[in-house]
Amino acid sequence: MCNKLKKRGPPCDSTIRSAAESGGDTWTESSLLSQAQHRESASQDSAHPTLSVSLSARRTAPPGAGDQDGGAAPISDGREETMSASAAAATDSPSSSSAPRLEGKVALVTGGASGIGEAIVRLFRQHGAKVCIADIHDEAGQQVCDSLGGDPGALFVHCDVTVEEDISRAVDAAAEKFGTLDIMVNNAGITGDKVTDIRNLDFAEVRKVFDINVHGMLLGMKHAARIMIPNSKGSIVSLASVASVMGGLGPHAYTASKHAVAGLTKSVALELGRHGIRVNCVSPYAVPTALSMPHLPQGEHKGDAVRDFLAFVGSEANLKGVDLLPKDVAEAVLYLASDEARYISALNLVVDGGFTSVNRNLKAFED
Ligand SMILES: NC(=O)c1ccc[n+]([C@@H]2O[C@H](COP(=O)([O-])OP(=O)(O)OC[C@H]3O[C@@H](n4cnc5c(N)ncnc54)[C@H](O)[C@@H]3O)[C@@H](O)[C@H]2O)c1
Repeated sequence: MCNKLKKRGPPCDSTIRSAAESGGDTWTESSLLSQAQHRESASQDSAHPTLSVSLSARRTAPPGAGDQDGGAAPISDGREETMSASAAAATDSPSSSSAPRLEGKVALVTGGASGIGEAIVRLFRQHGAKVCIADIHDEAGQQVCDSLGGDPGALFVHCDVTVEEDISRAVDAAAEKFGTLDIMVNNAGITGDKVTDIRNLDFAEVRKVFDINVHGMLLGMKHAARIMIPNSKGSIVSLASVASVMGGLGPHAYTASKHAVAGLTKSVALELGRHGIRVNCVSPYAVPTALSMPHLPQGEHKGDAVRDFLAFVGSEANLKGVDLLPKDVAEAVLYLASDEARYISALNLVVDGGFTSVNRNLKAFED
């Protein structure tokens, strides 16, 4: 089992990595699941169907589980017996039990070795897509690939999204291996250092954030378009953030970079619309991953990294009783990638339970 939300930050972001490594917990997927399950059972199983869907779908395929013809790998890790009745029922929700929604499609996911990207890779395979994982983290990327059965349905390619040759090679590798490219997911991203005083801003750090979060995504759009334009179809989905629509949710450079992703999405959607190519982005609220968890304020550390993170972001959330997990973001990306969204373009799909649309400061609904 390779899917880890562990003490590993993005390799190119030493600040996040060292912050994560100084934490007391190992952020394995099972620890994330057990924390969420703990919260679920604490609030009664049938009360939170969304969380139940997340839990059931985070079950992952064992190594070699891919079928022979490249179809979706079966999803099982032996936790079925422990699933609550509501979680089992949620597995049969339309999202996870209906016909595969990406059958016959080829996708490339940057940053697919961990976190949200890994969840997207797994959900896409579950829905029949052939998936190329492109990441700077070779070992984790290859492990995700192998756990999905590897060839013929999954491929790992080393790719630093800040290097145009790498992106070009990854796109070509996906198209050569699987015949084409239908879906490009620009997911790789970093937050950069936390800086509380602008006078201390390190511009090399700002450039690094923009190189990955903005230039890397633009390069992904460029090279995906190279394959998609002759086909007169395709779907490009980029990971923005709630920081694309609000200030104060992350470092300055991160906020600016995510606003840029939302702007790029609109601009490129306009150009590529005439070729039948849809371009959208997804903006999640806080999800427990190696990227976000080191940013938990010091005062919120009570001893269990995942639980503390979920408790803190839950206390600030608008939608209560539901933990936002990587799988929930992957579901939004799946929708935009699929033909169900065939007339959706230039959209910033905010996955935040209303967080960025409400302001509770005036206490309008309190006695
Ligand atoms: N986790 C959150 O709370 C959250 C919220 C909103 C948006 N997002 C966005 O979602 C995306 C994924 O974030 P995550 O939380 O899963 O992070 P993560 O750190 O868990 O995963 C990021 C992945 O990107 C890879 N990566 C980093 N730099 C790269 C590079 N130069 N080239 C190729 N791959 C590279 C890493 O190796 C890693 O596998 C990011 O764009 C992030 O900004 C995350």
